[in-house]
Amino acid sequence: MSLVELKDVVKSYGQNQVLKGVSLTVEKGEIIAIIGRSGSGKSTMLRCVNGLEPIQGGSVSFEGTKVNDPNTDLRKLRQHVGIVFQSFNLFPHLNVEKNITLAPRVVKGVAPAQTRALAESVLRKVGLADKIDAYPDQLSGGQQQRVAIARSLAMQPTLMLFDEITSALDPELVGEVLKTLEEMARDGMTMMLVTHEIGFARRVANRVVFMHHGKIWEQGPAADTLAKPATPELETFLSAVLH
Ligand SMILES: Nc1ncnc2c1ncn2[C@@H]1O[C@H](COP(=O)(O)OP(=O)(O)OP(=O)(O)O)[C@@H](O)[C@H]1O
Ligand SMILES: [Mg+2]
Repeated sequence: MSLVELKDVVKSYGQNQVLKGVSLTVEKGEIIAIIGRSGSGKSTMLRCVNGLEPIQGGSVSFEGTKVNDPNTDLRKLRQHVGIVFQSFNLFPHLNVEKNITLAPRVVKGVAPAQTRALAESVLRKVGLADKIDAYPDQLSGGQQQRVAIARSLAMQPTLMLFDEITSALDPELVGEVLKTLEEMARDGMTMMLVTHEIGFARRVANRVVFMHHGKIWEQGPAADTLAKPATPELETFLSAVLH
């Protein structure tokens, strides 16, 4: 059984069909980079995986559980699927430790005596152990984004979804966030990430999925697909982002 399975997913906003029959399977441990032009449906597809978007056709399943089934407990499912966005949305009035441990305490019932150790361990993974008592406004954008990643990791997800998490950062801060992702990849985390960082996708992803007009236009092993696109649309896209 695949970890994630999208079958002929159709998603519309009113008259606007934005996913036009998307099928994709993701195995445990895979790192999937999702690329494509603005409006091609990348974020929408990602959001379907953890049930943030109702769909009009097809099916989405995670670990064999149907995400688009009204009887599925989405809150429970989302404990296993972390998602990090471009805007990191840390709580400004809570310090780093509290930001990270809020959900584990409230949702998972992690005991107060264990939360600091939990925060320390996930902060070590993102290289920010020394910032445990800081408040978000005392951190750079890159550090805040790494705290947001640590916050997701604290729930011990099986799958992580990342939607252009470096796009809002100053260029000099992008590298530290990508490095964090690379380390998570090395640790074996399954990840689906929407990214414009083609070099990063080539280096870290197992597979590249190119979305175009609401469809998976082309997909394949990262290095091959990016070096030798099979479709003119991917070729055009790559030459636009690389130059
Ligand atoms: N909440 C919404 N309501 C109405 N239309 C939406 C909504 N979200 C997305 N869309 C439309 O769906 C299409 C796909 O959007 P999506 O956000 O998935 O694109 P994307 O590939 O992530 O683009 P970008 O690179 O700009 O983030 C677009 O035409 C967009 O206008
Ligand atoms: Mg998007």
